[in-house]
Amino acid sequence: MTDLAAHDPSADFTTLRWLGDVDGHLELLDQTRLPIEVEYLPVRDVDVLFEAIRSLRVRGAPAIGIAAAYGVCLGLQSAATADESSFYQQLNATVKYLASSRPTAVNLFWALERMRLKAESLRGEFAPASLRAELLAESKRIHDEDRAMCRAIGMHGATLLQDGDGVLTHCNAGGLATGDYGTALALMYTAHEQGKKLKVFADETRPLLQGARLTAWELQHRGLDVTLICDNMAAQVMREGRIQKVVVGADRIAANGDAANKIGTYGVAVLAAAHNIPFYVAAPSSTFDLSLPSGDGIPIEQRDPREVTHGFGSSTAPAGVKVYNPAFDVTPARLIRGVICERGVISPVNADSIRSMLG
Ligand code: MRU
Repeated sequence: MTDLAAHDPSADFTTLRWLGDVDGHLELLDQTRLPIEVEYLPVRDVDVLFEAIRSLRVRGAPAIGIAAAYGVCLGLQSAATADESSFYQQLNATVKYLASSRPTAVNLFWALERMRLKAESLRGEFAPASLRAELLAESKRIHDEDRAMCRAIGMHGATLLQDGDGVLTHCNAGGLATGDYGTALALMYTAHEQGKKLKVFADETRPLLQGARLTAWELQHRGLDVTLICDNMAAQVMREGRIQKVVVGADRIAANGDAANKIGTYGVAVLAAAHNIPFYVAAPSSTFDLSLPSGDGIPIEQRDPREVTHGFGSSTAPAGVKVYNPAFDVTPARLIRGVICERGVISPVNADSIRSMLG
């Protein structure tokens, strides 16, 4: 455990990593402890990983997908000497279990399906012992590819940011939500590296405060100029002329460009439209779900009412009050000026432009 005050701000953090060989384990930066403590959680079995995903110790669409891919390797550790049919049964059970951890971020299902298909493609070719090594290599590839996609998103997206821009973001779509560099925050990191001076405004992001606890922490940690605001201040800050661009991440983007992201994102998009401020979504291709024609089909996670009534400890609402706590909302494509993915900027955002960019 590292006390934040004692933590060297120039030292980088690692959102997640695999330690050791096929019998090794996953290590996660426990995001529920930030910004108070930088604590790494060893994850040695699938139940611990399931809980970590559910309770947002690891969170953010790409990071959930990467963690789940490693989770498949954890789930197969006890199948090293299994016969082929038991090995595949265990694989399918692990995939099904992890797929039930959270419903909205499509990266979870994308990564699990990729692991399953990899194993299927090798059926009959490798004994379970060697198959496990192949699957660990596949999860590391998923992780490496995510890092590369984030860097590419940063390069394409930074061209949209001008020196001196005020940029608003919601939730956390940074290094903590991905392999290492983020999606929405990748634009800001890249622009910063290019010498552009940005003023980033981070919405605190009720109820779980990913903006305050995570985005403000990682931007500060990496030396960017960040100002924290409560969610209900965004309109005023826009009206004062402090925001020139809005950039957010996504958990799932439908074929027509409707994009699900953290609850409150849709409201920010409406505000941006009202103030004539371009609203961008940054996401890798693993976040697109082209099987859904529109955002109407995106499953929205409903979370524990206590996140609203007992945010971080004490009660802030009368006992027994009814609560509605959807964790995500869907921003319609018409409010999105562009989607930045690793292949470039999709704009205008519609089914044709998405299909021609993603192929
Ligand atoms: O509930 P969370 O914290 O997992 O929600 C995360 C978000 O909404 C992010 O903006 C999204 O996953 C994009 S991360 C690059």
